Amino acid sequence: MITTLIFAAALAARCISASFVPVGERPGPKIIGPIEKRQLPQATWGHTLYLDAKKSEYTSLSVVYSPGKPPPNPKGSLFLWPGMFQRENYTKSNLIQTVTELHSPLENQSVCGAKAGQWCIRPFVVDYSARQISQFPARGKAIDADDKILIEYNKKPGENGNWTQKITNLSKGNTVLFEWERGYKRVNRLHLATEYQGGAPKTTDTQRYWNVTVTLKEPEPAVGSQFTTYPKNIINSSKPYSKDNGKSWHIDEVVFLPHDPSAAGASPAAPRPGAAPLGKGIGGIAKKDDVNMQARIAHVGQ
Ligand SMILES: *[C@@H]1O[C@H](CO)[C@@H](O)[C@H](O)[C@H]1NC(C)=O
Ligand SMILES: *[C@@H]1O[C@H](CO)[C@@H](O)[C@H](O)[C@H]1NC(C)=O
Ligand SMILES: *[C@@H]1O[C@H](CO)[C@@H](O)[C@H](O)[C@H]1NC(C)=O
Ligand SMILES: *[C@@H]1O[C@H](CO)[C@@H](O)[C@H](O)[C@H]1NC(C)=O
Ligand SMILES: *[C@@H]1O[C@H](CO)[C@@H](O)[C@H](O)[C@H]1NC(C)=O
Ligand SMILES: *[C@@H]1O[C@H](CO)[C@@H](O)[C@H](O)[C@H]1NC(C)=O
Repeated sequence: MITTLIFAAALAARCISASFVPVGERPGPKIIGPIEKRQLPQATWGHTLYLDAKKSEYTSLSVVYSPGKPPPNPKGSLFLWPGMFQRENYTKSNLIQTVTELHSPLENQSVCGAKAGQWCIRPFVVDYSARQISQFPARGKAIDADDKILIEYNKKPGENGNWTQKITNLSKGNTVLFEWERGYKRVNRLHLATEYQGGAPKTTDTQRYWNVTVTLKEPEPAVGSQFTTYPKNIINSSKPYSKDNGKSWHIDEVVFLPHDPSAAGASPAAPRPGAAPLGKGIGGIAKKDDVNMQARIAHVGQ
């Protein structure tokens, strides 16, 4: 979700202008506060769930998410998200993601004014084809640990129909936190992720996703077999199923157990998503590129 320093400098030097500039937001890379701090360290990946479309593409996602209690004295940053992107040709793709964030006290939660015990949430789009690679509202919104957040992505009709992200706090009279339209590329991978940045971040409570539903442009009965979780010992997920011959797929519940990637023996070191469980990189690219790709997905300017 961030650039490297070098990359940021390169962006600045090129006088980036945003492809999409929403009303009320200034153009230019919005690399702010703690986000800026994500530049150098490589991400470590925790929980990983993939659901892939092989032939068609996704046109919507709906999921209810609850992050659980944040670690009380976080070190580094946590980025928890359901994301959708294209496995192949990712450099021409978009990553659509609503991110729940937590930052160390040093970096603080100024991105949204969260108090102790709260998280920040906001939508992001990484648009590899745009000069302003990552786009997001300058400020997130604070949510409570046990809030149930409805996250919905919808692609408008047509080849280049825009993606919308709608974020609703079901725990508070269905308060709509964001309605945000950005990105338009086709996507074929759903990825639920725990992303660790810097310091020694860990999760200390259970994250829960309920009623994960994806819709496909064309029915694809084999999507359920393109389902991967890793590491298995820290994820409890029900199996995907379809009731309409593959037009939409559902996972009733996903539980991400607390995970400390630095604790010896606590769980296997989380590999880069795409590396271990699938036996090859995302989109079949080489391992080295996989690292780069993941670094870009996770860090480039988001
Ligand atoms: C897609 O979104 C961009 C950025 O918000 C906007 O400028 C553009 O008009 C949208 N396109 C359509 C067809 O709505
Ligand atoms: C939080 O960080 C921002 C910059 O990221 C800084 O301006 C602000 O003073 C900090 N707040 C506290 C309470 O430390
Ligand atoms: C990826 O790009 C190549 C070359 O442009 C194209 O042939 C292929 O169809 C693309 N794959 C997808 C899934 O879009
Ligand atoms: C979401 O709802 C919870 C529970 O009522 C509330 O504590 C929290 O402040 C709400 N967050 C926002 C951003 O509305
Ligand atoms: C999931 O969907 C079922 C069936 O519509 C509903 O009863 C349940 O409340 C939903 N769960 C959440 C957490 O929203
Ligand atoms: C996860 O699954 C295991 C094995 O089925 C079960 O013992 C455990 O209670 C589950 N944990 C949660 C939090 O659902």
